[in-house]
Amino acid sequence: MKSVKNRPIGIFDSGVGGLTVAKSVRKKLPREKIIYFGDTARVPYGNKGKETIIRFSREIVNFLISKNVKMVVVACNTASSFSLEELKKSYKVPVVGVILPGMKEAVKETKSGRIGVIGTKSTISSRAYDKALKKAGGRKYKLYSKDCPLFVPLVENKFSHDRIAYEVAEKYLGSLKKKKIDSLILGCTHYPILKGIIARVMKGTNLVDSSHAVAEEVKKVLKEKGMERTRGKGSLKCFVSDDAENFRSISGIFLKEKVSVKKVVL
Ligand code: DGL
Repeated sequence: MKSVKNRPIGIFDSGVGGLTVAKSVRKKLPREKIIYFGDTARVPYGNKGKETIIRFSREIVNFLISKNVKMVVVACNTASSFSLEELKKSYKVPVVGVILPGMKEAVKETKSGRIGVIGTKSTISSRAYDKALKKAGGRKYKLYSKDCPLFVPLVENKFSHDRIAYEVAEKYLGSLKKKKIDSLILGCTHYPILKGIIARVMKGTNLVDSSHAVAEEVKKVLKEKGMERTRGKGSLKCFVSDDAENFRSISGIFLKEKVSVKKVVL
């Protein structure tokens, strides 16, 4: 029987975007082995409903468990919004999501108490960040939310440094600018890639990239449970539900290393 420390961490997302989280986890925990699953056959999750997302998430976690993971990280904001609580109840391994770590970070950073969050349509309408604020901060903070559905396709089509992305960002973020927020949570796997453009539009606003906070949380949980891998080299193996080549070709936007990718049927 493999020591629990040597078992891999499972990370999943609706597609390729969760590699932003995998990258941060690799940086913080370079000795860990990571199994990443991107549900490329069913992406996007950002416009789907709760029951569907829970069903997809369960199928993926079952796959990760079959790979003997010691922990599951729900890297997708939309999946975290809808299925985190269900997954925590259903599986024995620790399950970490991206919503609460991001919110805690924003609460730590804000001075004015006026926080913004951007995400997919489903994430924003789930009000998961509003619930997280109740846990992380309470009433003295104010949260302003905005969905930005065009951001994901802009990133995936390599427009993240283009004028068109800037114009879309100006349109989406105008309402948040008026709210005078001082911290903005990038509540979607893809948004850290648009950080440059978002920072230009939201001048002077602190941008919270939850992937760092999630990596921090993963480390904390592993340490508490005595599950951190302290020897050997880390690795990253990716599995996808659609064409592996397609995933490989856009993974470079998110990850500056070559990845091994295999297609599987869930
Ligand atoms: N991964 C999703 C998220 O973080 C964005 C892509 C999608 O809509 O599936 O919400």
